[in-house]
Amino acid sequence: MAPFRLGVVGLGHRGIHMFELATTAFPETLQGVAICDNNEEILKATVEKFPNATPYNDFYEMLDKAELDVLLVETPAHCHAAFCVEGRKRGLFVFGEIPCVATLEEADALWQADANAPKGFFMTGANPNEWGFVEALYSYYKQGLLGKPYYMEAEYIHDCRYLWPSTPWRRTMYPITYCTHSLGPLLRITDEDLRQVSCMDTGAWVEGGENEHDLMTAHFHAPSGLVVRFTASFINNAGCGHHSYRVYGTEGYFERLSSRGQQKPITTFNSKKLYGFDKSTIVSIEEQRPEFEARSKNFGGHGGADFVLWYTFAQALKENGPAPISLKAGLRMTIPGIFARESAKQGGKLVDITYPWD
Ligand SMILES: NC(=O)c1ccc[n+]([C@@H]2O[C@H](COP(=O)([O-])OP(=O)(O)OC[C@H]3O[C@@H](n4cnc5c(N)ncnc54)[C@H](O)[C@@H]3O)[C@@H](O)[C@H]2O)c1
Repeated sequence: MAPFRLGVVGLGHRGIHMFELATTAFPETLQGVAICDNNEEILKATVEKFPNATPYNDFYEMLDKAELDVLLVETPAHCHAAFCVEGRKRGLFVFGEIPCVATLEEADALWQADANAPKGFFMTGANPNEWGFVEALYSYYKQGLLGKPYYMEAEYIHDCRYLWPSTPWRRTMYPITYCTHSLGPLLRITDEDLRQVSCMDTGAWVEGGENEHDLMTAHFHAPSGLVVRFTASFINNAGCGHHSYRVYGTEGYFERLSSRGQQKPITTFNSKKLYGFDKSTIVSIEEQRPEFEARSKNFGGHGGADFVLWYTFAQALKENGPAPISLKAGLRMTIPGIFARESAKQGGKLVDITYPWD
């Protein structure tokens, strides 16, 4: 089978990394044929790196001329959907960066475009879903070792000020809308959609700039009574690692705490259902998935999670689907953040969450 023809729109740090990873790790499945950025300087600077790919400064021209099979969307976080919608309307396999959409209108448009697409599928590029300790959490849950989760927490604490010069959009984004890294892993262990939210915004304290939102924290609610708390901060002096998670279940407890100074990240777990695990026990699993370690070690990218995303995507391409992380999964972990932002704008008012499939 000839490799699938891959084109990327958005040649920032992430776009270059993902395009390079896909085409060097899976050359028999993915051939990099086109690169696109509407910033001429960035495009020129990238051409040398990918001599076999045709450069475009116009997205539609790339779609019209490059005969793509697969579109990788790596534009800034607030503008993914229009590119993904166009790709799906043309029946391309679309690998979309997270968060999937920035507004509810975009969510509806992408949902419709995907449902009516002549062929192909949409893959959500939710790399944290593929971390080793997240896979461990999922495995404990599936085996009934945690029972029913009734309270879960996630934190994404990342001081992004060093990224402002290259990605100014990060400065004023509402951090609560960047919720896929946090809700994605937790939603793997519940079939329920989150249905209500109340969210608070600290506003700007650390730098005090206009339209900055240093930290936001939200409580989400699902119909069974499940509560999920999510805190996100992209301007802070915390200095800790980025991602923490806690899961309270009826039969056990799971915790992943990010690094703190000299203290490395730590994953602990206990279960009433597993002999010898009734007390909190350290689990020796990190971001890296042991089963992929040998193959992913030369490629890097979020502890090997980026490699796993492309691996599962390449397998799905060969089998013509389904997408390993579907559009629905992507919208379940994206849309709650949009409603959280609206709740924060109304001072924390409890708001109902709706989805395109309602
Ligand atoms: N999954 C992860 O772990 C992870 C990590 C980092 C970034 N991201 C996501 O990846 C995306 C890219 O992040 P980044 O840091 O590389 O951002 P960036 O701003 O550096 O890169 C985006 C690029 O898109 C280009 N662009 C914007 N509008 C365009 C258009 N209309 N046509 C063509 N090109 C256009 C810009 O010129 C820029 O080069 C973001 O959505 C971000 O949230 C995800």
